[in-house]
Amino acid sequence: MVKLVHAGDSIYFVADASLGPKRYEIDGRTYERFMDFIYLPAPTEELTVAQTVIVNTLRHRYRRRVEWSLNTYVRGLLCRINDQLAPASVIELGVGFNPLYNSFALQFEYLCLDLDELAVTAARGRGLRADLFRDESKLSMPDNAVDAILAAYVLHFALSANQLDELARVLSPEGYLIGNVYRRSAVSRAALLASLQDRDFFVQSRRLRGGEGHELWIASPDARSLAGITRVADAELGGAT
Ligand SMILES: C[S@@+](CC[C@H](N)C(=O)[O-])C[C@H]1O[C@@H](n2cnc3c(N)ncnc32)[C@H](O)[C@@H]1O
Repeated sequence: MVKLVHAGDSIYFVADASLGPKRYEIDGRTYERFMDFIYLPAPTEELTVAQTVIVNTLRHRYRRRVEWSLNTYVRGLLCRINDQLAPASVIELGVGFNPLYNSFALQFEYLCLDLDELAVTAARGRGLRADLFRDESKLSMPDNAVDAILAAYVLHFALSANQLDELARVLSPEGYLIGNVYRRSAVSRAALLASLQDRDFFVQSRRLRGGEGHELWIASPDARSLAGITRVADAELGGAT
């Protein structure tokens, strides 16, 4: 029997390096295993901000327990697609403790966003521009100012209506949002898709390796731009998905 530790706000984790069962009952409530050692009381997209912070703190604190190869692949893919599109300004949504880009030789303006204050502080410590972005936050930039929004391992968490409004507001008409989606159920994906379409995004998705319905989502307010960006993504994906 694995020993679970309560990290706070109904998030549990396995105390040692053993792999626990897929589901665990605690006081009559079912917890789902996430990333092999964390147990969640609800799907990732239903977690509160405080729970999301705890999950990502555990992910960072116990990073030696995490298998990073898929994460490295997805991050590389997002960067290669983005680099080919040569944007002048980029937002990284949900930067966590591992920004997609470092502060040296950046070819574009780069703003890192996260709902976790420690992630924002860590990005600033690397010399990057970073802002706290959660729930009702407003972004500091004017309308249409950003060419690209990149989201590595973020879109399975909750995004508030205000956050989506703000991202849609600052993205230029030919801009794009690219991120991977996994873990979400079909219903939850349909809800995320609808919330993007409600904000006038056109969306394409492509299957990615890794199971759990892993997908690359590409969204743009402009259908013609989306077609061009998707061509770049398809060429990068090649036959390797
Ligand atoms: C799994 S981590 C991924 C971190 C990094 N992008 C990577 O690939 O390693 C998810 C990050 O997204 C942040 N996050 C989740 N939901 C968010 C939201 N709605 N707004 C801003 N940041 C969010 C979390 O705080 C966390 O730092």
